[in-house]
Amino acid sequence: KPFPAPDFKLCNLAFGSTEACCTLPERLNPLKEFDFQPHLPMRVRPAAHLVDDAYIAKYQRAMELMRALPETDGRSFQAQYRLHCAYCNNHLYYESPEQPLEIHQNWLFLPWHRLYMYFHERILAKLIGDDEFALPYWNWDNQSPVAPYPGAVPRVYDLEWSLSPDAINKTSSLYDADRNNCSKPPRLPEFHNFTACEPQNLTLAREQNAQLMWTQAVSVSVTPLIMSGAPYRFGDYGGMGIGGIEGRPHGPVHLWVNEKDMGVFKDSASDPIFFAHHANMDRLWEIWKTFPGKYRKDVTDPDYLNTALTFFDEDGDQVSVTVAQALNLDLLRVKYQEVPVAWANKGA
Ligand code: C2O
Repeated sequence: KPFPAPDFKLCNLAFGSTEACCTLPERLNPLKEFDFQPHLPMRVRPAAHLVDDAYIAKYQRAMELMRALPETDGRSFQAQYRLHCAYCNNHLYYESPEQPLEIHQNWLFLPWHRLYMYFHERILAKLIGDDEFALPYWNWDNQSPVAPYPGAVPRVYDLEWSLSPDAINKTSSLYDADRNNCSKPPRLPEFHNFTACEPQNLTLAREQNAQLMWTQAVSVSVTPLIMSGAPYRFGDYGGMGIGGIEGRPHGPVHLWVNEKDMGVFKDSASDPIFFAHHANMDRLWEIWKTFPGKYRKDVTDPDYLNTALTFFDEDGDQVSVTVAQALNLDLLRVKYQEVPVAWANKGA
């Protein structure tokens, strides 16, 4: 059976959690059912290392407005990151806490994070009155050794590392003081390694990262379930198996940013860079479908397609969305700016 849309009132403190994870805004209006918004312009998510100052200013402004909303508002940054926490570590449940819902380490991982970003982006867009606003993606799979290094923490999230020293701004709404000081450009995440602060041989790291990208996304992930993660149906307990790119590179990139917030499930979405990290994961999911091989398609199991998930929409209302609705990026009116995907040709 598919999971029905969870009710945020059924939330139980779990291991390593804080009360905040279950302190989600009350539902003021009836639960909406999601429908596509075909009138929206196509939003092209830019590579974060390529955005200009006008884009950065706009995104900062939107995040300031989001951070200024009270935590009782589903559109607030507090509520946004708590929502991720609630969906982690078995907080949300159905009849009893013994029947929790988990969106990591199973086939809900990719669609849940896609929808989470969809609404996060729509809320930011509405706050600044710009329907074309699109989140940036952190192009860490790109091993280009030329500045601005796509693999390094993008300037948009930390102007202190800006190429122009005038732009230093620790008060930026996109800055997070908890980030690891080891993660400054040109340093980059190493996908085979879960620790950040060792001396880095950049040439070797780039070579190994490219190899790992190819292994995880091309040579290993040849079927929908290997790519997406193990089946997870109503009544199952916990993640049943991790998908092709969820373990690596997804996990090490989280930990590399830091081991405090980005590195732990409950707090990871409290750093805005979370969304750029996941935008890249989402982009890689799309790219994976374009690789040769007749099984590089989405899962078609009805328990997957009919699982429903609850989010806060751009009006602050709770909305239920099915996994089937998450699968078509065109219908969601989202695209990714194209950049070279050099690792995909390894071994060709
Ligand atoms: Cu919900 Cu990158 O994790």
